[in-house]
Amino acid sequence: MPNLFFYNLKFNFMSNHIPGYTYGQAATSPVSIADLDLLKKTVLFGDEDVQNLRLAGEVLADQTDEILDLWYGFVGGNTHLVHYFTHNGQPNMDYLGAVRKRFGQWILDLCQRPYDQDWLNYQQEIALRHHSTKKNRTDGVEAVPIIHFRYLVAFIFPITFTIKGFLAKKGHSAEQVEAMYAAWFKAVTLTALLWCQPYIKEGEF
Ligand code: HEM
Repeated sequence: MPNLFFYNLKFNFMSNHIPGYTYGQAATSPVSIADLDLLKKTVLFGDEDVQNLRLAGEVLADQTDEILDLWYGFVGGNTHLVHYFTHNGQPNMDYLGAVRKRFGQWILDLCQRPYDQDWLNYQQEIALRHHSTKKNRTDGVEAVPIIHFRYLVAFIFPITFTIKGFLAKKGHSAEQVEAMYAAWFKAVTLTALLWCQPYIKEGEF
């Protein structure tokens, strides 16, 4: 238990100091808990996945910087992706840096938070931040106004595939790594699809 105590301490300390991170303060999601339950069933997300995500969170907690270096390298190396952090063709380094901090927190949240009403509400907030409704507002930047829908879905693969090596770094068995990997894949699919909501016509989500 002491480990969990110190983890929570670090977790709370970190989240309180991330600019623009408003977990617990977001408006109510248009997606209900009942809808979420059916989506969980559809991606075969069960109690064992919750446990495997908790373990993944422990494994990944001190690797978030390395993971973000990899993902940012991927975005930075692709002009069609870094485009979304630009204004008049120039990448905004402050914007990239600000989002990176919240992205690090997201890795922990995906693994450790209960998928309750607060979690659902923050998924909708992140959805709006990718969509024209709220993009750029959190960091007060001028940049392209929307992340196109197609890339939100396409990102599921790289965000999933690249995590396996990090999950395998702490000496867990091949079965444990596979189980964490499957849980991560389901969780990323679930969140990315929730982030699609603002892009879909009323009544069609
Ligand atoms: C599975 C897909 C994706 C994941 C998991 C992801 C993850 C995240 C996270 C965690 C944040 C910060 C959320 C917060 O404010 O607390 C964020 C914001 C952002 N992401 Fe994504 N993202 C995805 C797709 C994309 C794609 C395809 C792009 C295009 C390059 C992108 C560019 C951005 C930008 C520009 C922001 C800042 C939005 C704002 O102005 O607030 N993301 N993303």
